[in-house]
Amino acid sequence: MSDETTAIGANRYTAAAQAFHWVSAALMFAVVPIAWYMTTLEKTDPTREGWYTLHKSIGITILVLSVLRVIWRHLSPPPSLPGDFKRLDAILVHTAHGLLYLLLFAMPISGYLISAAGGHPVVLFGVVPVPALVPVDRSLAHLGSLLHDAGQWALYGLVALHVLATLQHAVIKRDGILGRMLPF
Ligand code: HEM
Ligand code: HEM
Repeated sequence: MSDETTAIGANRYTAAAQAFHWVSAALMFAVVPIAWYMTTLEKTDPTREGWYTLHKSIGITILVLSVLRVIWRHLSPPPSLPGDFKRLDAILVHTAHGLLYLLLFAMPISGYLISAAGGHPVVLFGVVPVPALVPVDRSLAHLGSLLHDAGQWALYGLVALHVLATLQHAVIKRDGILGRMLPF
């Protein structure tokens, strides 16, 4: 047992990969409730713009972190799954992680399209203007809105599965999978 634990311990994500994961996850858990709240506010509400700015700023931060994270992942590949993983399980894990990465990009990019193509400026935390990389275009903004709205449901489903799968490993299988993403 201790040999197995040591082997898994040596086979964990790097500190940088762990930091990327947990900071991005925390930001995800913040950006979504902010979206739920801000979309309930009346257009006349004086705090509305501030909540939108915060939502967009956290979303762009997630995008920047995800770009750096993927570069880091390329330079320092993640640990391979423990050998006792069945082939089908390994395929499912890799597919789920791939889709989570896709959403880490698709959600901020589609959100950016809603704003930029809709003619609304994106100013990071009210300080740093993000350049408008697309022209003002209603159909492009509409496409962004469709992707952003649909993407949120994919996000909820995948994150729920991801957290439940982690819990199953941590509580039922107790195979050290959670520990691969923890510093201890
Ligand atoms: C990981 C990043 C992001 C996530 C998970 C996310 C999630 C969400 C969710 C769940 C909603 C509510 C949708 C609804 O109920 O209609 C929303 C709305 C919105 N988001 Fe994001 N978002 C992200 C990034 C961004 C970014 C980067 C921007 C812009 C730069 C943005 C702009 C918007 C706008 C303008 C709305 C309101 C849409 C409407 O009123 O129909 N989002 N977002
Ligand atoms: C409480 C919430 C969460 C827990 C407990 C958790 C747990 C984990 C664990 C244990 C791993 C490593 C799996 C392995 O060893 O193969 C992992 C990987 C991953 N998680 Fe999470 N996670 C959480 C939230 C999130 C969120 C919100 C996202 C993104 C939306 C996310 C995206 C990912 C991705 C993309 C990987 C794969 C990393 C890679 O191989 O580069 N996680 N997560």
